[in-house]
Amino acid sequence: MRFAVVGAGVIGEVHARLIASLPDEAELVAVVDLDQSRAAAIAATSGGEAMNELEKACAREDVDAVSICLPSGAHAAAAITALRAGKHVVVEKPLDVTLAAADRLIDVERETGLTVAVISQRRFQHASAFVHQAIADGKLGRITAGIAESAFWRSQEYYDSGGWRGTRALDGGGALMNQGIHVVDLLLWMMGEPVEVQAYADRLAHERIDVEDTVAATVRFRSGAIGSILATTSAYPGRPVRLSVYGDRGSAVIEHEDLAYFHTADGDPAFGPSDSLSVDDAHREQYLDFIHAVRDARRPLIGTQDARRALEVVLGVYESARTGRPVQLTGRE
Ligand SMILES: NC(=O)c1ccc[n+]([C@@H]2O[C@H](COP(=O)([O-])OP(=O)(O)OC[C@H]3O[C@@H](n4cnc5c(N)ncnc54)[C@H](O)[C@@H]3O)[C@@H](O)[C@H]2O)c1
Repeated sequence: MRFAVVGAGVIGEVHARLIASLPDEAELVAVVDLDQSRAAAIAATSGGEAMNELEKACAREDVDAVSICLPSGAHAAAAITALRAGKHVVVEKPLDVTLAAADRLIDVERETGLTVAVISQRRFQHASAFVHQAIADGKLGRITAGIAESAFWRSQEYYDSGGWRGTRALDGGGALMNQGIHVVDLLLWMMGEPVEVQAYADRLAHERIDVEDTVAATVRFRSGAIGSILATTSAYPGRPVRLSVYGDRGSAVIEHEDLAYFHTADGDPAFGPSDSLSVDDAHREQYLDFIHAVRDARRPLIGTQDARRALEVVLGVYESARTGRPVQLTGRE
């Protein structure tokens, strides 16, 4: 599959490198950035032609799929441009920063019948897949509770470094929308449909940003299970992400890439740290899933509906923190 990567920043460089690392499955034919020198730097190492307009890349017949690596609030519009040009799409998390934008993208995805995958690479880590399967097999019994913890440190320089970071319009939020959404997606994948959230959020350790750097929330799930989310970028020096899932016959804890704890009433399977997969390798696995989904005309493991659900939780948390009230999550079909 021939790709154009749009957005030659931090994650665009990773996408380009991953595509180049799959020579039997993928080829990088274009790299696009408003700042063409950034696109050129990536093209020089990973291949493809450097360009400065998404529309020009979309007009190319040798592009089958477009990878959107732009600031978050520009995701849906760029994905729609690519879909309308007949290209399949890989879009970075979050899907966009509003449900209205996300829904516009989902409408065009349905209309065109093309494939859209949304990056949430941690689902592809072995520990996450293992715990998800254990839950599906009933090994943890009735799932009662889960905790998603994303306690990072981001310096003031980080927020000052890019025009869009920490802005409501393009970042859409702070510690939860940008960083915490990874582990929120994992929590939802493990625990099922969320129906209500209640939250607090604040900016405690940074200046000149109009978004939160610390947020805590409680989630109620359709199953009756109760979850807890902590996302912060003000926890110096920062800790690995951590997901805990508890049931009445077993418990599992994932820390960073590893299964840190697993115990069930049936005994523990052999599963050690040697089975872990790095975040980059997981990203590559997600690319392979996307390529194979297009080839086999099946859904990718993480599609727009999953990403919309994570986005709805994030936005529900913000609304609850703002109003001081619980927020119902209704989803969209
Ligand atoms: N999956 C992950 O682990 C992960 C990690 C980091 C970032 N991300 C996501 O990737 C996205 C980009 O983040 P980043 O850190 O790479 O940002 P960045 O600021 O490093 O890069 C964004 C690039 O987009 C370019 N750009 C902006 N508007 C453009 C336009 N209209 N046309 C062409 N180019 C344009 C900028 O010039 C810049 O080079 C964000 O949505 C972020 O949430 C995901």
